[in-house]
Amino acid sequence: MPKKAKKIWKQVDQYFSDALIAPGEGFDSALEENRKANLPSIDVTALQGKFLELLVRATRTRRVLEIGTLGGYSTLWLARALPDDGLVVTLELESHHAAVAKKNLEAAGLADRVELRIGRAADTLAALVNERAAPFDFIFIDADKSGYPEYLRWSIELSHPGTLIIADNVVRDGEVIDPASPDPNIQGVRRFTELIAVEPRLSTTVLQTVGMKGYDGFAISVVL
Ligand code: SAH
Ligand code: DHB
Ligand code: MG
Repeated sequence: MPKKAKKIWKQVDQYFSDALIAPGEGFDSALEENRKANLPSIDVTALQGKFLELLVRATRTRRVLEIGTLGGYSTLWLARALPDDGLVVTLELESHHAAVAKKNLEAAGLADRVELRIGRAADTLAALVNERAAPFDFIFIDADKSGYPEYLRWSIELSHPGTLIIADNVVRDGEVIDPASPDPNIQGVRRFTELIAVEPRLSTTVLQTVGMKGYDGFAISVVL
């Protein structure tokens, strides 16, 4: 991507973040904690976090499932959008990431709405189905991209008609269009796309995004 384009994406992202996210409204201190704990800075951007918040509010969601917690930055935006009796179930492989997330959620006063489950998402998703967990109204897929095809299957199983399923990072600087990519992340997203394309229970679009974190995109599906 040309350097000049990247620079303007970043500046415009900063401009709208500053204009539209009031001081204290964002979760900057969580990002600071993540940095101190050496977590990779691959969280959603502030404007993307607010996009998730808006969608959760607009759909009157009560139950959110998140696959891939990291330090809980996206979890915070999702949890804030819920009514008092709402719940986010968030799944994370790394106990270190989960510990940082727990601290961030507690600091924001949102920990009581969040259930953090540690383990491979393939296992924790199977456990949720086994427990006959109530269906989720909103599902955010953001863990290892090679697992997306599997996470999609579980997500459909844990959904109801009207559930929104959002998958992060489906564009990856445009690498997604390379069928010969040796990157398992790209192959995961391509397989995910193929599954969605033939899945009669879903209606899907993709929204390409640019900003602080470069060029990427969300797949947005509704369960029919
Ligand atoms: N949603 C977060 C970012 C998540 S980054 C945010 O926007 O703030 C992806 C996370 O998925 C990482 O913390 C990584 O440890 C976790 N992850 C990777 N493989 C996983 C797996 N198999 N099961 C569960 N989590 C996994
Ligand atoms: C990566 C993962 C993410 O969830 C993201 O938003 C950006 C990058 C990664 O694994 O590189
Ligand atoms: Mg992501």
